[in-house]
Amino acid sequence: MDIQEKVIILDFGSQYTQLIARRTRESGVYSEIHPCTITPEELKALQPSAIILSGGPASVSSPDSPGIDPSIFEWGLPILGICYGMQLMAHVLGGKVAPSLDREYGRSDLHFEGHCPLWETLSDAGKLTVWMSHGDHVLAVPPGFSVMAKTQNIEIAAMADVGRKMYALQFHPEVAHTEQGDEILRNFLFHVVGLKSVWTMSSFVDSMLQALPEQIGDDKVVCGLSGGIDSTVVAVLLNKAIGKNLHCIFVDNGLLRAGEGDEVIGYLRQHFDLNLHYIKAQDKFLSRLEGLEDPEQKRKIIGYTFIEVFEEEAKKIPGVKYLAQGTLYPDVIESISFKGPSAVIKSHHNVGGLPEKMDLALVEPLRELFKDEVRKVAQELGLPDFIVWRHPFPGPGLAIRVIGEITDERLEILRQADKIVQHELMASNWYYKVWQGFAVLLPLKTVGVMGDERTYEHVIALRIVDSIDAMTADWSRIPTEILGRMSSRIINEVKGVNRVVYDISSKPPSTIEWE
Ligand code: XMP
Repeated sequence: MDIQEKVIILDFGSQYTQLIARRTRESGVYSEIHPCTITPEELKALQPSAIILSGGPASVSSPDSPGIDPSIFEWGLPILGICYGMQLMAHVLGGKVAPSLDREYGRSDLHFEGHCPLWETLSDAGKLTVWMSHGDHVLAVPPGFSVMAKTQNIEIAAMADVGRKMYALQFHPEVAHTEQGDEILRNFLFHVVGLKSVWTMSSFVDSMLQALPEQIGDDKVVCGLSGGIDSTVVAVLLNKAIGKNLHCIFVDNGLLRAGEGDEVIGYLRQHFDLNLHYIKAQDKFLSRLEGLEDPEQKRKIIGYTFIEVFEEEAKKIPGVKYLAQGTLYPDVIESISFKGPSAVIKSHHNVGGLPEKMDLALVEPLRELFKDEVRKVAQELGLPDFIVWRHPFPGPGLAIRVIGEITDERLEILRQADKIVQHELMASNWYYKVWQGFAVLLPLKTVGVMGDERTYEHVIALRIVDSIDAMTADWSRIPTEILGRMSSRIINEVKGVNRVVYDISSKPPSTIEWE
């Protein structure tokens, strides 16, 4: 997409870098994250309206810390440095940075000093509660800069060279714990840089409907539909853009939950004139998974079987040139990001390798969007709530929720239990309040008693979490009556289950899925 005004965020490895991008976009300003290792030429070619330097775990005083080309500060662009970004500005521009022995982590009271355009519209002028997470701090500002705020612990918690439009904050305005942090960022974007709030999802849809036909021409596109929101939005957008040249393939791998996929596919069939190829491949998937317990092995087999089935079907469509995928911006960032200490924990790749194997070019209309933006696009496209707010469902499906061996019997137990969880979440209106809720079948049996009989049966775990992006999550405080109803219905209605437990772990250190 050709976007006129954009903010470039240089990533120095902070866990909050994505949040900076989300906050600027929520304010209606398009932003992109690039690694701090970008060259000045590459950066210039992006034509930024402003640059934000993110935080990061390094210390500017250590020899292998990530740096920045000093010439960037001479371009006349407005620059905002956050945390490590501030220390780097001080270090490069002639100030002094002091290493601290102790990290300051958590809330801090910020007191304003002097007149700063970033504080201009804040309601409680004078002081703010802000979120700090740093080791080093600035001891002396560079020439031309003034101190703009202090805290009880540090004398220079914000600095600015107003004339050169350079600002730096030791705290994190992008995190929710910083009071009026959004407003501070907006003051930078609108008052300092002078940007306009034009990045909306309706403008995104308009520009995509223009760009996609130009990119694709009269060629054919094949698209894998999973029933989830990302692939559904890709399909509907392409359907509007290129009509019958889009071919959608839905693969039933036998690992779907009750109604998963079918509801969405049914809706799309009814409301859109899609070329839909519905492939029943349950036997192929389930026979290959027989006897396997290792989750990574399950994921791999499901991944390559999907590619095989998909490729076989796609080959039947003559003249396909493109593969459409629902890649989102976090996947793009993950692949380019500056690797700090955060490591990838689990492999989530579902269809990796497909484009190379089939020699297809990629169409990824959502690759600039965050999940919340995709939901807004879905609303713009007129999709109903049950699609827009559908809980995420993993590509490997129930294979990663039936812990241990996958058998028809165990899949059926999980499907029935999960159906009750979904039903009770919907009936109590909690479905739309939580990020994701589902049942997990554990690989053990425990003792119970039914009538006068001792039973020895399966355990179902309920996993219901609140999250904004699945990167962190907390267990949902679902009213105990609802949990109780889920439990008694599952034990009474699902044959083979005599115990239900509720998972009260947060991510991190746990994950959302059980494996
Ligand atoms: P975790 O378990 O890593 O999950 O906390 C985060 C989010 O990702 C989903 N998930 C997957 N999605 N393929 C997918 O498409 C996968 O292999 C996979 N594993 C986890 C999970 O449902 C949650 O929303």
